Amino acid sequence: MYEIQFIREGVTAKAEAGESLLEVMRRAGLTPDAPCGGNGRCGKCAVKLCGGKDTVVKSCVFSVCEDLIVDTMGADASANILTKGVSHDMLFDPALRQIRLEVPPCPAGESTADWKRFADSLRGAVEKGEDGKAAARRLSAAMPASPEIASKLGPILKETKGVVWAVVFEDAEADVRTLTVLDVSAERQPFYMAAFDIGTTTVVGYLLRGEDGSEAAVASRMNPQVQYGADVINRANYSLEHGMEELSGCIRAAVNEMLSEMAESAGAVPEQIYLVSVAGNTCMHHLFLGICVDSLVHAPYNPAVAEPMILRASDYGLRISPRGQILMLPNIAGFVGADTVACLVSSGLADQKEWTLLIDIGTNGEVVLGREHQMIACSTAAGPAFEGSRISRGMRGAPGAVNTVKWENGAWSCTTIGDQKARGICGSGLLDLAAELWRTGQISETGELQNGRQIVLVPASGTEDGKDLALIPQDIGELQLAKAAIAAGVRLLAEKMNVPLDEIRQVWLAGAFGSFLSPESACRIGLIPPELRGRISAIGNAAGEGAKDVLRSRAMWKRSAALAAETEFLELAGLPEFQDRFVDELEFPELEEDRTE
Ligand code: FES
Repeated sequence: MYEIQFIREGVTAKAEAGESLLEVMRRAGLTPDAPCGGNGRCGKCAVKLCGGKDTVVKSCVFSVCEDLIVDTMGADASANILTKGVSHDMLFDPALRQIRLEVPPCPAGESTADWKRFADSLRGAVEKGEDGKAAARRLSAAMPASPEIASKLGPILKETKGVVWAVVFEDAEADVRTLTVLDVSAERQPFYMAAFDIGTTTVVGYLLRGEDGSEAAVASRMNPQVQYGADVINRANYSLEHGMEELSGCIRAAVNEMLSEMAESAGAVPEQIYLVSVAGNTCMHHLFLGICVDSLVHAPYNPAVAEPMILRASDYGLRISPRGQILMLPNIAGFVGADTVACLVSSGLADQKEWTLLIDIGTNGEVVLGREHQMIACSTAAGPAFEGSRISRGMRGAPGAVNTVKWENGAWSCTTIGDQKARGICGSGLLDLAAELWRTGQISETGELQNGRQIVLVPASGTEDGKDLALIPQDIGELQLAKAAIAAGVRLLAEKMNVPLDEIRQVWLAGAFGSFLSPESACRIGLIPPELRGRISAIGNAAGEGAKDVLRSRAMWKRSAALAAETEFLELAGLPEFQDRFVDELEFPELEEDRTE
């Protein structure tokens, strides 16, 4: 065994001879970045071996054969994570409630169980409604008895002379409602719900107060699964090869840590959380639940399960109230998942009178075109280029990332996140760079650089590592592949619905990249068809908002199922015209303005 010291993190780990450094880092809980899944292709897992020559090696292919001192060089743990979305007014009518009950004593000479008297009181209270008027609700006859609740009930009834506060989850199927009692107490207690947007790259959690749905805390972090690959395919393949435990285990652990962190910042404990909602793409959904992802990596790429699900949280390792529940939002298709459904819930796209386009660009690009409950969606294989993968100096939007680029007076002028020395370039910077190259005639319409060589964006004096920050012709090629996939998706959806592009009145960009990109640059290079210029707005973390909406409103939870079922899925790869359209979109579109040097 060898001893490996990670100096930046202050962690020491043991390693067997021949073990890869990446493996050691995973075991030590360092969450290393490994976009290509440890295949030695991307180079983003590089670490510095200190002492002697300070060599930089790819940790995934470097085998340990001696004691080492390693500098992980910071990775991307500090990436800026978008937590805000556009919230909207809605009736607060959650499935989770705390209800005060007055349970009558057991009549003398009878032997009616505590549970029966409690259950009758609860049914009566819910049937009457909170305002005391009879509500048009029919409750299902069965309200399953719970030994855990029953054992708490007796002492409470004795202590309070019949007054009980019950935390209840009400599930509705057609006109029949089922009540599940999650907890009882002698006094009113603060109680909470938590919404999660599990993205391929980042995870965002929101803690909501049960009383009024207001936000009590927010937490975010990188998805720890990045150490198994940047995209869903790498992660799916890893789990098929090595089993589901590692990937399911690390995301559940992250969710548990975030639940504790949020509870603590709200002055509560995780056991006061009774309901959790989860929105994520289909692969994140399956990996969270431990569902085999085999169907996602083989044609026809369908989900193993698409329906909305209500599950017991403890069965999936969540450490909240022991009887807490999970609402899993439904999926639409193998590559259009519950995160898109959550965006539909929060954005209200289905209610728009005018044709509206919703684009969520992450490690994949999902596009939905719709109005008045006519919706069609596709997934575009945009790849993670906009999140820094496969770009020579690409990185996520974190401090030191070049995020805006301009060509001014014959030179490049850039800004970086946090105004720090440049470490790399993120998606919005890359988009600006291509748009400026095209505007100033430094690139041909097919993407060839005028000088045929690399572009030095930031000279060595302005970078963190003291080397020029340069982009190579292949980087432009990667960007073209990504932008062509999205633009072809938009055009094919519009054609399928017979909607001329000028009839699309609004374009909503969801997600972090959509919030930070320049719409002008996106139209200039044809990522978004230039015909849609002037109609583009960012809607922030719409998936996170949707995950909160289904907790705050039973109608929204029900609606999520209807929206998933109503949305038609268009499989682009199956369309004969897709390849031609994709190739057309690789080129940069005609400029509307004059070319300026
Ligand atoms: S080269 Fe090591 S993870 Fe990609």
